[in-house]
Amino acid sequence: MSAPDLYAVLGNPVQHSRSPRIHELFAAQGGQSLRYERRLVPLGGFEAALADLRAQGGMGCNVTVPFKFEAARAASSLSPRAELAGAANTLGWDAHGRLWGDNTDGVGLVRDLARLLGREPQAALHGLDVLLLGAGGAASGVLGALLDGGTSVVEVWNRSPERAQQLVRRHAAKASAQGCALRASACPGRGHALVIHATAGSLAGELPQLPPGVLQAGALAYDMMYGARPTPFMLLAREAGAHAHDGLGMLVEQAAESFTLWRGLQVRTEPVLRQLRAELDAQARAS
Ligand SMILES: NC(=O)c1ccc[n+]([C@@H]2O[C@H](COP(=O)([O-])OP(=O)(O)OC[C@H]3O[C@@H](n4cnc5c(N)ncnc54)[C@H](OP(=O)(O)O)[C@@H]3O)[C@@H](O)[C@H]2O)c1
Repeated sequence: MSAPDLYAVLGNPVQHSRSPRIHELFAAQGGQSLRYERRLVPLGGFEAALADLRAQGGMGCNVTVPFKFEAARAASSLSPRAELAGAANTLGWDAHGRLWGDNTDGVGLVRDLARLLGREPQAALHGLDVLLLGAGGAASGVLGALLDGGTSVVEVWNRSPERAQQLVRRHAAKASAQGCALRASACPGRGHALVIHATAGSLAGELPQLPPGVLQAGALAYDMMYGARPTPFMLLAREAGAHAHDGLGMLVEQAAESFTLWRGLQVRTEPVLRQLRAELDAQARAS
């Protein structure tokens, strides 16, 4: 019998990642034989980790914090959405051994927001006033999809403001084509219907500094981070009366899109999301 096809998620930190479990469940659905590993990559070691994976017969990988920009630079070709983002979360080698890059974070986020809002993905964001917190690989990957989704306003805020400005400049043409007001805010100062937390602060249990009034009662607050317990951002949002959700649904949806790119197969995400949530709840009860 031949060895299972090898995939991995490369990141730092990466031990929290549930991607191996998700791809195991997708593989079981489609009767696919694959092995998916979690690989901790030292800073400065991304190219070497990619070369190791390939030398071991790897067929592709997901890329997480903080390597999504490096992943886009490493690819010989990029999909239009990864090109716009300047960041890739999915890499694969084609039949000629060339590395391609794509970004499935945006479609993953929009599908999960549609589920939470009870709307069709094409109409999920229509007319929404959005604040995007962060300007790293994750924020870069989702901004194009937020604009495509019919948002009326997107403000981008980041600890290092020049990175927020760069991200907004990169997307200016798409924003004007979609008729969306896109701005880099020096500091978020007003309430928004949807606030998306896309900084890596949650990984260290830290919160971005937000002035009062940004998180409002009735708003939707979405933390891309996920775990057995609510994140600090979710707790802050709930204190303000907002509806807070973690990023587990986005994780499952972006993984499904990566799986389809690699394997050419559609998978069902709802049973996988239910299973993952049950496993995280059991972990919370046991700790
Ligand atoms: N659920 C999902 O499917 C999914 C998908 C993608 C990402 N994520 C999560 O999204 C988060 C961001 O990932 P990434 O790839 O964008 O990382 P990244 O490329 O390293 O970017 C980090 C971002 O976080 C900001 N930041 C870091 N520490 C901070 C702090 N203590 N306070 C305020 N801002 C801080 C950085 O600001 P500066 O520019 O000022 O450094 C930058 O905007 C991670 O938690 C990741 O796990 C989840």
